[in-house]
Amino acid sequence: MGLTDLETRTQVGIIGAGPAGLVLAHLLRARGIDCVVLERQTRSHVEARIRAGVLEHGTVDLLTSLGLGDRLHRERMVHHGIELLFEREAHRIPLTELAGREITIYGQHEVVKDLIAAWDGPLHFSVSSVALSALTSTPTVSYVDADGVAQTLHCDVIAGCDGFHGVSRAAIPPGVLTVHQRDYPHAWLGILAEAPPSSEELIYAHSSRGFALHSMRSPTVTRLYLQVRPDEDLAEWPDERIWSELRARLDRSDPAWSLADGPILERSVAAMRSFVVSPMQYGRLFLAGDAAHIVPPTGAKGLNLAVADVKVLADALTAWYASGDATGLDAYSEACLRRVWRVQHFSWWMTSMLHPTSDNDPFDRALQLSQLRYVTSSRAAATSLAENYVGFPFP
Ligand code: APR
Ligand code: PHB
Repeated sequence: MGLTDLETRTQVGIIGAGPAGLVLAHLLRARGIDCVVLERQTRSHVEARIRAGVLEHGTVDLLTSLGLGDRLHRERMVHHGIELLFEREAHRIPLTELAGREITIYGQHEVVKDLIAAWDGPLHFSVSSVALSALTSTPTVSYVDADGVAQTLHCDVIAGCDGFHGVSRAAIPPGVLTVHQRDYPHAWLGILAEAPPSSEELIYAHSSRGFALHSMRSPTVTRLYLQVRPDEDLAEWPDERIWSELRARLDRSDPAWSLADGPILERSVAAMRSFVVSPMQYGRLFLAGDAAHIVPPTGAKGLNLAVADVKVLADALTAWYASGDATGLDAYSEACLRRVWRVQHFSWWMTSMLHPTSDNDPFDRALQLSQLRYVTSSRAAATSLAENYVGFPFP
C-alpha cells in the first residue's frame, strides 16, 4: 500500500514534547531509530512552562551522554545537601556525604529548551485532534497539523508521553488498566521571584501554618512554594500576603537569617496527587512519564521518573529493532513500575511528614515532628532519605 502525501510512516510515534517525549526522541535518534514527535502546544508555550527544578545524578548523566550537557553544566547549581526546618530550627541532610551523589538545580523548562534546540528531527507543534488507533496491530496516529491539514502517521510503536491530561492513556480500552490514586487535601502555590536565594541549599519547612519550600533557579532567581488548599484562589494572594506567609513559615531562631524578596515573575497553584496506572503498556502503545504516573512534588521526582521510563523504553526498543528480541518490551511495565512505586512511596512519605493537616490535628503533628527529629538525628534514617532523594541508579 502506498502512502498518500498526507500519510507518513515512522518507527516510533511519540505523543507529547515534554521531558519524556523529547528525551525518548534523542535516545532513539542516538540508536538509529526513527521517530516523529507530535505536540499539542506551541514551542514557546512548552519552553515557558515553569515546573520543578531538581535533576538526579542519573538524569544529568543521561542528558550529558546525549550531548545535551553544555549549557546544563555551565549554568546548573550543584547541591550537596538540603535543609529540613521545623520548630524554627534548620537541620541539614548532607546528601552527597550520605548517598554518594549530588543533585543538580536546573529548571525543567531549561531542560526542555535544550532538548528542542538540539533536535533536528520531525517535531510538530500545535497539532490538534490527536487520535490513536489499531494499538494491538498496526498503530496509527491521526491528527490535524498546525496548518489545519489532516494527517496520518503509521508507526511500529507509539510512545504515549503526553502527560496526565493526554489522549494516550485514554485510548486504552476500559478494563485494561488498574488505577491507583491518592488525592491530598493540599496544593502548592508556587512563585518565581527576582530575588537572590536566601540559603545556599533547598529548605523544606514544616510549620503549624503549613509547609513551605525555598528553592532557586540561579544566583538571582528564587523559586518558593506555600502549602495551600486545593481550591485556593490566586486572587486572594497579593504579593505582600505571599511574602509575609513565606517569612512566617520559613522563620527560624537564627536572628541572622532573613528571606530576600523581590518582584514576582510567575505564580500558579498546582494540586497534589499520587497516581499510577498498571500496566504501562497496551499492545504497541507504551505510556511514559506523567501519562502513566504522577507524584506529589515534595520529592522533586516527576521529571526524573519520566526520564527513567524512557531510558527503559529506548533500551527495549533498541534490542527489539536489532534482533527482534521482545523481552525488554514485554518487561517494560514491570521494570518501570518498580521504580515508580519506590518513588511514589518516597514522595508520599515526604509529603506526609512535611504537610500539616488542615485541622492541625495534634496526633498527626506529633507524628510528623517525631519523624522529622528521627531523620535529622539518626544517620541511618538520614541516609535512607538521602539515597531516595538523590535517586537510585538508572536501570
Ligand atoms: N497531543 C499531543 N501532545 C499532547 C497532548 C495531545 N493530545 N496532550 C498533552 N500533550 C503534551 C503536553 O502539551 C505536554 O507538552 O504532552 C506533553 C507532556 O509533557 P509533561 O506534562 O511535561 O509530561 P512528561 O513529559 O511526562 O514530564 C514529566 O515531570 O516534573 C514533572 O509533571 C512534571 O512535566 C513534568 C513531568
Ligand atoms: C523546584 O525547585 O521547583 C522544586 C524543588 C524541590 C521540590 C519541588 C520543586 O521538591
